[in-house]
Amino acid sequence: MKIIRHLIPILLTASLLTPWPTIARDDKSEPAPIINYEERFLPVVYRHGMVVGTEQLAAEVGSSILQQGGNAVDAAVATGFALAVTYPRAGNLTGGGFMLIHLAKQNRQVFIDYRETAPKAATRDMFLDENGEVDKKRAYFSHQAAGVPGTVAGLLYALDKYGTMSREKVLAPAIALAEQGFRVSFALNYEITARGQRLRGNPEALRLFFRPDGEAYDIGETWRQPDLAWTLRQISTGGTDGFYRGKVAQRIVAEMKAGGGLITLEDLADYRAVERAPIRGTFRGFEIVSSPPPSSGGVHILQILNILDGFDLTGMGPNSAAYLHVLAESMKLAYADRSKFLGDPDFVNVPVTELTDPAYATRQRQLIEPSRATPSSDILPGKVLAPESDDTTHFNVADHHGNVVSNTYTLNASFGSGIAVPGTGMLLNNEMPDFAVRPNHPNLFGLVQGEAHSIAGGKRPVSSMSPTIVFRGGKPWLATGSPGGSRIINIVVQTLLNAMVFDMNVATAGISPRIHHQWQPDVILAEQGISPDTVQLLEAKGHRVEQTNRTIGRTQSIMLDDGWLLGATDTRRPQGWVAGY
Ligand code: DON
Repeated sequence: MKIIRHLIPILLTASLLTPWPTIARDDKSEPAPIINYEERFLPVVYRHGMVVGTEQLAAEVGSSILQQGGNAVDAAVATGFALAVTYPRAGNLTGGGFMLIHLAKQNRQVFIDYRETAPKAATRDMFLDENGEVDKKRAYFSHQAAGVPGTVAGLLYALDKYGTMSREKVLAPAIALAEQGFRVSFALNYEITARGQRLRGNPEALRLFFRPDGEAYDIGETWRQPDLAWTLRQISTGGTDGFYRGKVAQRIVAEMKAGGGLITLEDLADYRAVERAPIRGTFRGFEIVSSPPPSSGGVHILQILNILDGFDLTGMGPNSAAYLHVLAESMKLAYADRSKFLGDPDFVNVPVTELTDPAYATRQRQLIEPSRATPSSDILPGKVLAPESDDTTHFNVADHHGNVVSNTYTLNASFGSGIAVPGTGMLLNNEMPDFAVRPNHPNLFGLVQGEAHSIAGGKRPVSSMSPTIVFRGGKPWLATGSPGGSRIINIVVQTLLNAMVFDMNVATAGISPRIHHQWQPDVILAEQGISPDTVQLLEAKGHRVEQTNRTIGRTQSIMLDDGWLLGATDTRRPQGWVAGY
């Protein structure tokens, strides 16, 4: 296995130079390979435990927790806290997310919803100006854009209920990274420089993220975050109270008052992470377990798979025009339903059973014409229903007991609103515009959302974050997820299909070029890896295709195969990491 690991950088480099590098198979006396050497990209392989994430130091924190005897939940929580230090564009204490856990011993899955909530004082039209138009600056980059943070409650809930280690132990590596500092990587330098304008616009963020001379920390320079270390210590000693009550809470509320934000001490003290039943369904012998509302992910992943189940996808071939046509048509149908039916299940009745019913998918499939794209304007949400940059980060953990964690969390935009809370080292999220700030008009991700998505105090905005675990033969087989805002659902669907239908290894499944259609606007967004010939064939069917030189998402995945852990971090962005042993 060591050989394979050493080959990976060579293969990846070679793949940039020649489209299809091939490597001679090893000595025939070797056991049958669990990955096909002729595939374009290879996963990293470990035996006992693995963490796959967007940043090396945090992934290694998780792996070292596993090696000290912690389970996958201990490692996930330690990784989540460490990412808040080493990956500030999306790692966070002040955002929110979803954690899906497979508990091997009990053979069951639990889903922890730690999505932000709207402050109690939030109202439906709070982001509209006197002309009824969305005040974009206020919706996205003001104190009012912040929802009540869920991350600390979510991570500590997971640890208390399903972890084995003490809070102090899993928080210690994050505290050390913040206090002692770490060497700035190429990726971190690039991220801070790219968002420099927004971060420099806030005096506290300027102080936190830049050197005293105002320049970004250089690659290799040590960056320390003493204020963040202080906040992490409050959590380590005080638990959730250390964040949601006491000095940290007071500092958050003082900043809210100074900047016209809505979050109060009561909002913070009342925040709770919630355990919900995951979404479940089957597809060609695989069991899919994914994220329930307030995520729209699980519902629509299943809906799209259910619709596609009626087509000969293998015969069409991966990324063929025929395949991309039915894929895009299925995406449109699902996103049309998303616009109307998804919402916070504590506030609105989401027809999950109906939307994920294979019989509904059979009816929807009839709406897809094989040779012609149906214009989005002809697709209405729920025609046949009975009842009614930007950044985020995903990581997975697998331990030697067979437990698996798939976690996605976010501040919404890259570095959230860019507003820092003085004395805490933390940035505020800007999750509020995930609500329909103006129902039936496009949001930050161009998503059109109806009344079920409107703002109300205490409500959770609908999310697309979709941590997912696929089971084969009753055993966890693939854990995956991605950032990408509204695109996440389609990113996860294509990764799953690449693995389940087209038999790609986990690295190739995540790296293959992708498309995205979200019903409105009526356009297929296609990565450059989709060939121009294919684009022409799609256009001939009536699709509008916009080819982008930007990337769609960044998957992180673990495949569990025959006792091996195969990890893959999407090379669309730099310096993701597979750590393990
Ligand atoms: O919850 C959601 O769907 C969004 N707030 C996620 C944001 C995101 O993925 C941005 N990253 N590219």
